[in-house]
Amino acid sequence: MEALSAAILSAAAVLEGSSLGATMRGGRGVYPAVNVAHVAGLVLLVGGILVVDLRTVGLGRAIPLAPLSRLVTPLAVAGLLLLAGSGFLLFAADAGPLVRSAVFQAKLALIAAALVNALLFRRLFGDFADGRQPPMLARTMAVLSIGLWLVAGALGRLIAYT
Ligand code: HEM
Repeated sequence: MEALSAAILSAAAVLEGSSLGATMRGGRGVYPAVNVAHVAGLVLLVGGILVVDLRTVGLGRAIPLAPLSRLVTPLAVAGLLLLAGSGFLLFAADAGPLVRSAVFQAKLALIAAALVNALLFRRLFGDFADGRQPPMLARTMAVLSIGLWLVAGALGRLIAYT
């Protein structure tokens, strides 16, 4: 365990000291541009997920869940890829302190939990293509999903203040 955390700390220091880290910290608006991409990814991922989750919970029952889910899923996946790529670049700028930040660690843990929840949901319930209404477990997982993604996003914003 100690060897693992030492390896993570030194990998973070190497990343921060790399030319990628230096480019991210350099002028010319690189960091703000990547930050905007990060927020665009957040909108794509969390905006779409929120709509499907609220429909799963029971709002807007007149809207068929399966086509809604089929529309949103590729957008959410694109948002996640954008978040992960831009997040890595933002991380490179300040990797040493960030890797030690409890808020950053909590954010990553919540993202991991939200992804497990989403994959489990897919495996258990698919996209409700048969038109049935989501059972209690599906609705509970949708509420959990909303909470996990929103708190992960809030922690992302809070990192700058800690
Ligand atoms: C997938 C891997 C991700 C990584 C590695 C990552 C990394 C980062 C980093 C390093 C920052 C800058 C922190 C700072 O020094 O101020 C940041 C900011 C932020 N992240 Fe992420 N992030 C990821 C995913 C996400 C996700 C899924 C969300 C939303 C649920 C999110 C929401 C935010 C927000 C709202 C900010 C603040 C943006 C701002 O201040 O304008 N991130 N992220």
